[in-house]
Amino acid sequence: MSRVKNIEDDYGFFGIGILNNTDEINIGTLWRSAYILGASFIFTVGKKYKIEGSDVTKSWTKIPLYHYKTFDELKENIPFSTQLVAVEMGEDAVPLGEYVHPDRVIYLLGNEVSGLPPLIIEQCQSVIKLPGEHSLNVAVTGSIVMYDRINKGHS
Ligand SMILES: C[S@@+](CC[C@H](N)C(=O)[O-])C[C@H]1O[C@@H](n2cnc3c(N)ncnc32)[C@H](O)[C@@H]1O
Repeated sequence: MSRVKNIEDDYGFFGIGILNNTDEINIGTLWRSAYILGASFIFTVGKKYKIEGSDVTKSWTKIPLYHYKTFDELKENIPFSTQLVAVEMGEDAVPLGEYVHPDRVIYLLGNEVSGLPPLIIEQCQSVIKLPGEHSLNVAVTGSIVMYDRINKGHS
């Protein structure tokens, strides 16, 4: 019996989202990148997403946009055998260039004001960082991470 949708043996997936978002325009831009660069789903933790014009693709009409009230709720709903990866600057973070993306992964970003709290980061399976002494915009960061995943041959 064959499936209607053809999925390759090495097919993986990823979701990307943000904790306690503070800037709707950024997030609209992140969702647009996520849809175009192949995310299977997008999500918010804490603050709900409001429709934003910067997401010209209306990504939420094409891939699921989930909302979790708390980080614990996100953790309880992680798909089977899927890693949770924090995207944040820090001494212990793995530079993105050296990072081998898991087949199934959720990338979690922090907000523009306070980033990801250490208590959240320590509950993630790994932490990855982009180069630079100053933080990048969150939508730019997420877009680069997704491009890096594609560029390293992942779906
Ligand atoms: C503008 S930054 C947060 C800056 C915040 N003022 C702080 O001190 O943590 C917003 C988010 O973008 C991501 N980000 C920005 N630059 C990054 C980098 N160089 N490496 C990894 N993540 C980065 C992180 O997810 C971060 O939480």
